[in-house]
Amino acid sequence: MKNMRTELSFAELPQIETELLAVAAADKQTAKGADVKPELVLLIADPAVQAAAAAVLASGEYKGGANETLLLHAPAGLKAKRLLIVGLGKLAKVTAHSVRNAAGTAVRFTKPRAIRELVFVLPELEALPAAPSARSAVEGAFVGDFDADTYRSDRKDQSVELFKLAAPAGSDEASLRAAFLEGVIVGESQNFTRSLVNEPGNKLTPTVLGERAAQMSAEVGLGCEVHSTEKLHELKMGAFWSVSQGSEEPPALIVMRYEPEGVTDGPVLGLVGKGITFDTGGISIKPSDNMEKMKYDMAGGAAMIGAMRAIALLKPRVRVIGIVCAAENMPDGKAQKPGDVQTAMSGKTIEIINTDAEGRLVLADGLSYAKQLGATHLIDAATLTGACVVALGMINAGAFSNDDAAFAKFDGALASSGEKFWRLPLGEEYAELIKSDIGDIKNTGGRWGGAITAAEFLKVFAEDTPWIHLDIAGMAWVEDSRPYIAKGPSGYAVRSILEWVRSY
Ligand code: BES
Ligand code: MN
Ligand code: ZN
Repeated sequence: MKNMRTELSFAELPQIETELLAVAAADKQTAKGADVKPELVLLIADPAVQAAAAAVLASGEYKGGANETLLLHAPAGLKAKRLLIVGLGKLAKVTAHSVRNAAGTAVRFTKPRAIRELVFVLPELEALPAAPSARSAVEGAFVGDFDADTYRSDRKDQSVELFKLAAPAGSDEASLRAAFLEGVIVGESQNFTRSLVNEPGNKLTPTVLGERAAQMSAEVGLGCEVHSTEKLHELKMGAFWSVSQGSEEPPALIVMRYEPEGVTDGPVLGLVGKGITFDTGGISIKPSDNMEKMKYDMAGGAAMIGAMRAIALLKPRVRVIGIVCAAENMPDGKAQKPGDVQTAMSGKTIEIINTDAEGRLVLADGLSYAKQLGATHLIDAATLTGACVVALGMINAGAFSNDDAAFAKFDGALASSGEKFWRLPLGEEYAELIKSDIGDIKNTGGRWGGAITAAEFLKVFAEDTPWIHLDIAGMAWVEDSRPYIAKGPSGYAVRSILEWVRSY
């Protein structure tokens, strides 16, 4: 995937020669009611830009709703060929995330029109400092640039080649440059995750996922080892192995290490991702309807790979280990069966009730291994349960934790990531539901509270280590395109996990 080029410009806005200058507007009307009219304001102080947009903003034809666009050709008084106005919605509710989406909207507006470059002007907002806003804008531009059509033979590469961010007059150059570079790293890393999630199961096997992680690691200077069957047996990863045993494709245990120079004490963060490159359900096979979607069952693992890329480039002062447990869940003569009992790496025995509850099996051993490698704090991400999608819809991802302090740091990271996670409960009564008659625990807890019993299962392996579990089943794939993001893989959780890591 070719990355879009980006530049930061401090030029005077009316002097900028470009195919398209994008500016933001918002509605500062606070009164409500059927006959209350929006009160549009352009969030760019420059008088020439103000003048160019004045007539259309006064016309009432444009409401400035979130990601609502309006295009003017040959704007008077500007050297730009086109002026695009992007709405941020209600001014009082504007956040860095509104700016992220507006920049994405500008890029997605530009892309299909065969316009190769655009300049997005950073909105001037009293309530929002320029640096976080700049970082968000660049991230949003990358998010907007991604499309899922990799394998279309008539694919015209309509990518935007150059995205320029224009800083308003009087901004602090050093802090904006730093924020801008962060935005590039985060945006590219999120798109790297999306490109992995987008790959079909026949192209991206566990082995190939391991190769992609190793290649990325070499590029950014991360340590990386990729193991397979033999190592799983050596580590006695009976839970992880049981998922892969029914597939012709060998599993991959991907281990990435970030060790900043001079950091020898303090926490070691363990990032563990579910990397099921295709989930048929196994012997408890899934219905054919929508089964093709199960190529994205490695989205949690891909999120960890993308987060590790960003970590390697942003260099926080904390040690991080990234582990992805990659396998293909297939039915076969050698596949595991309901009723089988598996012994996990930790020694706990697991009764298999449903071979389609495979994510928790690979993660169980991934969590144990992260602890063995020295992780003091754990976070996992997985497209784990349909029940989580039933509970929270495609609006919030689920989050669980056995540690309020670790969770508070994660919750605190969400304002800047712009992602939504909703904490769901854990508790003894839920843990009861996964007790097994024949062994220690079983891999499903019945129909009700399915996202929670899955989390309780993982908690058995996190033990007393502070741990956060992210169930991104409903958020990893965008079902309907929006103005700022294409239908397809979302790269969800990359930004939040990264911010959580940076909070240590
Ligand atoms: N990968 C699925 C969960 C999933 C569902 C992800 C929908 C994305 C969208 C997971 O492995 C699974 O099959 N879970 C089962 C668990 C059940 C058997 C206890 C489920 O949710 O039905
Ligand atoms: Mn499954
Ligand atoms: Zn699955």
